[in-house]
Amino acid sequence: TKRIFSGIKPTGHLTLGNYLGAVRQWVTAEYEPECALFCVVDLHALTVEHEPARVRRLSRQAATLLLAAGLDPARCTLFVQSHVDEHTRLAYLLECTATDGELRRMIQYKEKAARAQVSGEGVRLSLLTYPVLMAADILAYEAQEVPVGEDQQQHVELTRDIAVRFNQRYGHTFTVPRATLPAVAARVMDLQDPTSKMGKSHDSGAGIVYLLDEPGVVRKKVMRAVTDSGDGGVLYDRRTRPGVANLLDILAACTGGDPAALADGYSGYGALKRDVADAVVELLRPVQERHAELAGDPAQVEKVLREGAGRARELARPVVDRAYRAIGLLEP
Ligand code: TYM
Repeated sequence: TKRIFSGIKPTGHLTLGNYLGAVRQWVTAEYEPECALFCVVDLHALTVEHEPARVRRLSRQAATLLLAAGLDPARCTLFVQSHVDEHTRLAYLLECTATDGELRRMIQYKEKAARAQVSGEGVRLSLLTYPVLMAADILAYEAQEVPVGEDQQQHVELTRDIAVRFNQRYGHTFTVPRATLPAVAARVMDLQDPTSKMGKSHDSGAGIVYLLDEPGVVRKKVMRAVTDSGDGGVLYDRRTRPGVANLLDILAACTGGDPAALADGYSGYGALKRDVADAVVELLRPVQERHAELAGDPAQVEKVLREGAGRARELARPVVDRAYRAIGLLEP
């Protein structure tokens, strides 16, 4: 059976984009615990200005939400990145095979570095090496598939390049992974700014639906979504009508339809927005209910994470040890 790995960064509350783009792909498949690993990547949250207590709180919350969304600890491995040393051990080796030029080309690096520069915080060195740590996350588990949203595709491509290069120079060591994207909603856009991604680390608020938003809040955000002017009814065109296309994508992802076909059923934006709001509220309802139960039992979540880290460590250690030998480091 194939091995799957994916991760989520505790830099903000989980959004509808995270859910439709990634998390929902994680919970729908049938897995064995050794075949599907999902990780709260807390080390990645330290690459930009951060608040220690907030990272801690968001890490716990992300794990709780993933369980609430349907990850079953009996069928997959859920753990926290910093609990398994293999990630950083391997990241250093991979830094010795990746180049400065490759990392500076990463779109997310350019965007986030620009933001950090503007705010005067300075760019953390770890922001540049971020994709190498992500490659280590994936390669340490010999993952074949990495279910992610569109914005992570470039990082998975780099991971492939790093793996292929390492294998060629130092002998076959790593499985070469590939990204898998959902058919719709691989890139959910901000409701207030439909030309940019709905992102948990942005703070535009009104354009972001969070998984824990109450129904009234979800409705308000969707009803106020920016739509496009232009007549000719409701059309699905991501380029010229990004706001409406985003709503149709969300509706299609929630109800299982095709966004272009759904457009034909509407003559105005009001009815479309009402249906999107209803669909999102229904989608989130069971997740929120389950989250409320789990949040009352933090010891249970901690136990899942502890067991997950133990299992992850055992899987990663032999792979990382093998890489140490292959690259020329002496056996201890
Ligand atoms: P992160 O935490 O930003 O996002 C987690 C997952 O959600 C997807 N996603 C979206 N999908 C659709 N529309 C959106 N608006 C949207 N926003 C986020 C992301 O594509 C991602 O799949 N670098 C990663 C975390 C990571 C990782 C890994 C992922 C670290 N190591 C190894 C896979 C494998 C990140 O920052 O995701």
